[in-house]
Amino acid sequence: MKVTVVGAGAVGASCAEYIALKDFASEVVLLDIKEGYAEGKAMDLMQTASLNGFDTKINGTTGAYEKTAGSDIAVITSGIPRKPGMTREELIGINAGIVKTVASSLLEHSPNVIIIVVSNPMDTMTYLVHKSTDLPKNRIIGMGGALDSARFKYRLAEAMDAPISDIDGMVIGGHSDTGMVPLASHATRNSLKISDFLSEDRLQQVVEDTKVGGATLTKLLGTSAWYAPGAAVSSLVQAIACDQKKMFPCSAMLSGEYGLDDICIGVPVILGRNGIEEIVEIELSEAEQNKMKESASGVSKTNALL
Ligand code: LAC
Repeated sequence: MKVTVVGAGAVGASCAEYIALKDFASEVVLLDIKEGYAEGKAMDLMQTASLNGFDTKINGTTGAYEKTAGSDIAVITSGIPRKPGMTREELIGINAGIVKTVASSLLEHSPNVIIIVVSNPMDTMTYLVHKSTDLPKNRIIGMGGALDSARFKYRLAEAMDAPISDIDGMVIGGHSDTGMVPLASHATRNSLKISDFLSEDRLQQVVEDTKVGGATLTKLLGTSAWYAPGAAVSSLVQAIACDQKKMFPCSAMLSGEYGLDDICIGVPVILGRNGIEEIVEIELSEAEQNKMKESASGVSKTNALL
């Protein structure tokens, strides 16, 4: 199993590290355009192998796409990250050009690759990869919902003073501060409804904190977060590589599901060796359906800027 991670910045390097720590891939190629940067990160990570006990080989390259040849899965993290006060949507101009070039360079050397898009604004970048390549829909996946759901679970556990392993919950919709739709009424603690533990107001606070999860970290860190994004991507890569048939909310190209068409937005999907093996349509309340519609209209507005 060969995995390429394009962009050796904080998210790309964390993603490569988590993939290696889970030890299911034979090789991870880390590619960046900054001279020597990916090689340096790859060497540093490889020097953790004997300490952390993994055999995955991490190789770095400065822009040599031929070294990515034959990749089964590729992750696109390249582009500029947001600075405090910026929305993900403001990155579109610069990142669209980068993401388009990266996708075509990857496909030149790995025609069968499954692509995971992380660059922001992520739903629109995922849409762009669909439109600029002629890959089947199952082979292009946007990573947002897995991260937002992890942040939702963190906030729920915090509010209940409960261990995160007790909590289940999912965030669908667009990966933006206003577009996320945390499914509060579906969230559970050991199969019990969250409303058995939290007041309506506290639950609403959790929802709001989840939606600005990325912005909160950007303010604290001065740039966007990397540990949870890297871990979330590595979970998607593992689900595909190991044919796990696991369910994650991911940005998928919709053709009528959830009443939406010609848009990439976060919905629950089953991930396996063929990428998106199924889009799962769950029943949403009327309020959730309306939020999903609003979210889709926000994503469409950003898509129109392409
Ligand atoms: C975040 C970026 C990766 O939410 O979109 O942290």
